[in-house]
Amino acid sequence: MVYPRTKLISFVWIISLMALLVMFMSFLANGNELVTLPQIEYNDNDLISAIIERKAERQYATEPVALKDLALVLWAGSGIKSPQVDSVSHATRTIPSAMGIYPIDVYVFALQVENLPSNIYLYLPEKHALQEIPSVNVTEALTKITNQRAVQNASMVFLIVFHRDKSSRMNDKFAYFEAGEVVQNISLMAVDRGLGSYVIGMYYQEKIIEVLNEENIEPVVLMAVGKPSQ
Ligand SMILES: Cc1cc2nc3c(=O)[nH]c(=O)nc-3n(C[C@H](O)[C@H](O)[C@H](O)COP(=O)(O)O)c2cc1C
Repeated sequence: MVYPRTKLISFVWIISLMALLVMFMSFLANGNELVTLPQIEYNDNDLISAIIERKAERQYATEPVALKDLALVLWAGSGIKSPQVDSVSHATRTIPSAMGIYPIDVYVFALQVENLPSNIYLYLPEKHALQEIPSVNVTEALTKITNQRAVQNASMVFLIVFHRDKSSRMNDKFAYFEAGEVVQNISLMAVDRGLGSYVIGMYYQEKIIEVLNEENIEPVVLMAVGKPSQ
């Protein structure tokens, strides 16, 4: 039996359309499929608690922060893990860095820290020490840099920058990314030490450069830290 040519073409078209419809429906079905993840056990561990408790804290008590807590928070942000160095990856810091360049520097504006004169300092991870930066009064310096009032009640304010000498060997986007790592580690360690913090993106870049007398840096954010007022 011989079918007319037009009927045969229509038949092929219908079969093709049906096949396409079946493929489309199976695609939709797959796209809608949900894999339900295990529920988060909120009291499972300290890290989960710190992640939950972290929030922008802008009200601080007048109590000073312990020097040990400042040390822990800075160490978490960009400290050296040695002697617990990973013998395989040679990871030495608390944060990863593209090509191991570590372009981020952290400055501390110490307002109320026990046993630490109120001053501006640069954190030196290799020495786990603070290097004093000659400056005028810290409160005056902060007033110049940002008009965020909560900063004046904080016990300390961190300035996260990347250093152009180091970042010139990498793409700027990596340097910004690494600044984010530092901020997150500081936020979480602050919570763990009973401190609150918030990130400040509103500042005057040229004033920071003027106060620090350092042209070769790119400021990213400030972070105010202190004991929450309640
Ligand atoms: C890059 C960045 C810049 C920010 N700048 C400011 C700021 O200038 N002033 C401010 O009050 N909060 C600032 N924040 C805090 C956000 O407002 C806050 O994180 C956001 O509302 C979410 O709230 P949470 O941190 O409590 O989860 C900033 C946060 C980020 C990440």
